[in-house]
Amino acid sequence: MGRFEGLTAVVTGAGGGIGRSVALRLAAEGARVALLDISTGAADRTAEAIAEAGGRAESYRTDVTRLADVEDALDRAENDLGPLTLAVGAHGIVRNHPFLELPADDWDATLSVNLKGMFLLLQRAAVRAAANGGGAMVAVSSVAGRGARPTCADYAASKAGVISLVHSAALALASHGVRVNAVCPGVVDTEMTRAIHRQKAEINGITPEESFAEQAAKIPLGRIETPEEIAGVIAFLLSPESSYITGQAVNVCGGLEMN
Ligand SMILES: NC(=O)c1ccc[n+]([C@@H]2O[C@H](COP(=O)([O-])OP(=O)(O)OC[C@H]3O[C@@H](n4cnc5c(N)ncnc54)[C@H](O)[C@@H]3O)[C@@H](O)[C@H]2O)c1
Repeated sequence: MGRFEGLTAVVTGAGGGIGRSVALRLAAEGARVALLDISTGAADRTAEAIAEAGGRAESYRTDVTRLADVEDALDRAENDLGPLTLAVGAHGIVRNHPFLELPADDWDATLSVNLKGMFLLLQRAAVRAAANGGGAMVAVSSVAGRGARPTCADYAASKAGVISLVHSAALALASHGVRVNAVCPGVVDTEMTRAIHRQKAEINGITPEESFAEQAAKIPLGRIETPEEIAGVIAFLLSPESSYITGQAVNVCGGLEMN
């Protein structure tokens, strides 16, 4: 028996690098997984991979910034897959602009997707999990939410906001039997990171591979992390093994942050 046998989980950003890996991991451990993403094609590919591995998943096109989208997707997910008790917020966007050039519209877009979208997911999923007897949720923040990021102040603020949101939600939901935690990845090998390094490589006149290697050299464990390494920690935080952990933000960053 897998740790999530018979349970239904929702994963946002399920077409992206980390979301896909989390969805595959939860399905491999027995969960039926609702895959929410604004990119239908990407979420469909995750659903296909889960089905090929013998698991059960459905994808739902969802813009997490829209309450009606989130509600509709969760309604359909419960109809298709059963009562929801587990949720993972792994959607997100990042744009790089030096602070003095950061457009106000980009600020709004980043805060809307990364922070408002996380609020909508956690709140709407928590209503269902509480009604279904309790559950667990994990929000993907970032080590960027722990400190200064002069070339993506909007992203860092959104991720600091996610940590604060998780604290408030954990306190509000503890008596409803719903645990809420965050993970803070460092640098993960996904399309988000590859796009940043293509941009950096062009600016610095090097190849994206060289830019990746420079980044890896700054990480105490000496390498960029895999999405599966985040998925394993998220699965732990959703499982009964972490039954006494709530309101925490866990760094999964190869030692980039030590607090
Ligand atoms: N890659 C890293 O190094 C890294 C580091 C720290 C934190 N994170 C965080 O991890 C999470 C996942 O990142 P990733 O690396 O897998 O990125 P990714 O770009 O591979 O995936 C992000 C996914 O979010 C989806 N998405 C974007 N806007 C959306 C919206 N409005 N509604 C629904 N879905 C939307 C995208 O379609 C995409 O599938 C993000 O929150 C990111 O900030 C990533």
